Amino acid sequence: MGFRARYTGLIEKYRDRLPVHDDTRIISLGEGNTPLVKLHNLPNLLQKDVDIYVKYEGSNPTGSFKDRGMTMAVTKAVEVGSQAIICASTGNTSAAAAAYAARAGIRAFVLIPEGKIALGKLAQAFMYGATVLQIRGNFDQGMSLVKKVAETAPVTIVNSINPYRLQGQKTASFEVVEALGFAPDYHCLPVGNAGNISAYWMGYCEYYKDGVTNNKPKMLGYQAEGAAPFLQGAPVDYPETVATAIRIGNPQSWNKALAAQQESGGWFDKLSDEKILEAQKMLAQHEGIFCEPASAASVGGAMRDICSGKILEGSRVVCTLTGNGLKDPDTAIAQCHSVKQVAIAAELPAVEKAILDYMK
Ligand code: F0G
Repeated sequence: MGFRARYTGLIEKYRDRLPVHDDTRIISLGEGNTPLVKLHNLPNLLQKDVDIYVKYEGSNPTGSFKDRGMTMAVTKAVEVGSQAIICASTGNTSAAAAAYAARAGIRAFVLIPEGKIALGKLAQAFMYGATVLQIRGNFDQGMSLVKKVAETAPVTIVNSINPYRLQGQKTASFEVVEALGFAPDYHCLPVGNAGNISAYWMGYCEYYKDGVTNNKPKMLGYQAEGAAPFLQGAPVDYPETVATAIRIGNPQSWNKALAAQQESGGWFDKLSDEKILEAQKMLAQHEGIFCEPASAASVGGAMRDICSGKILEGSRVVCTLTGNGLKDPDTAIAQCHSVKQVAIAAELPAVEKAILDYMK
């Protein structure tokens, strides 16, 4: 039996499709190569003949898709001799920036909305050693501060306005095409700052242009009802949602995302917080897949559009689950208040009785 070479991250794998040189020092944590899992139970529950796959980005090194972009952005920052990176974040970008900066041996400054990021993400930023600046404001205010400060301070912005971020993130589409042997009919994503949907579209178009696949998906972008600038057709001043990762009112990649939706013949739609959490719980309880709330917007939106017939029967649908459920334990536990939590004696009869009681 032969052994395959150790997987060493997406830049090495897609080197000829990414802007790196032979002698570029690559900053990688082995990101990418994430599972594309076919759902078995949700399609049955919907009673529709549709293949649904989830691209589980929660299995990246810091638990979200941001690692794909961050390996590129930090590699390029180091290449030009940058000593510090900076980002505004709803949590996942800051975790990824902090980790890749640690790996590179440079400094990371992260601006996050005070009290509005999930606990796991905060723990990550602290633990990886970033300088955490909690602002009394939202992501959009943080983003605008980052852009201003980078004009004078010696820092490289690693938000998705950094073009290398989208270059890294486009590799997720490559992996989907390679796993299926074709592009799906629909690709569903949660949309916040709108970089990821733009990156996926870039990846699909690149493989299409080069003849790796002869089809492209319709791109479907789902936003939280309280943070849905694409549905409003204008920025939202005070975005609010339980899905804090996508609590964004003024997406930086607006034009690119709109082009992706229009060129692909897809659409944007919005979901209530209740529907987002319902989808998160359904994925966990019927498929054994735990994603964070924002991620579940893709599956929640897809399920609704499958039921209504907007997504046609016989289709192949891919939903990106952008982040790991462990990122946001508070929201998860708050949703499971109906789960019986009982403490019992550490004795066999007590355990036996508890099992019998539960089986009733
Ligand atoms: N899902 C998760 C889990 C996210 O963290 C984000 C964005 C998105 C979806 C939306 O992706 O911005 O490319 O449209 N999080 C950013 C952050 C904004 O700071 O971590 P997008």
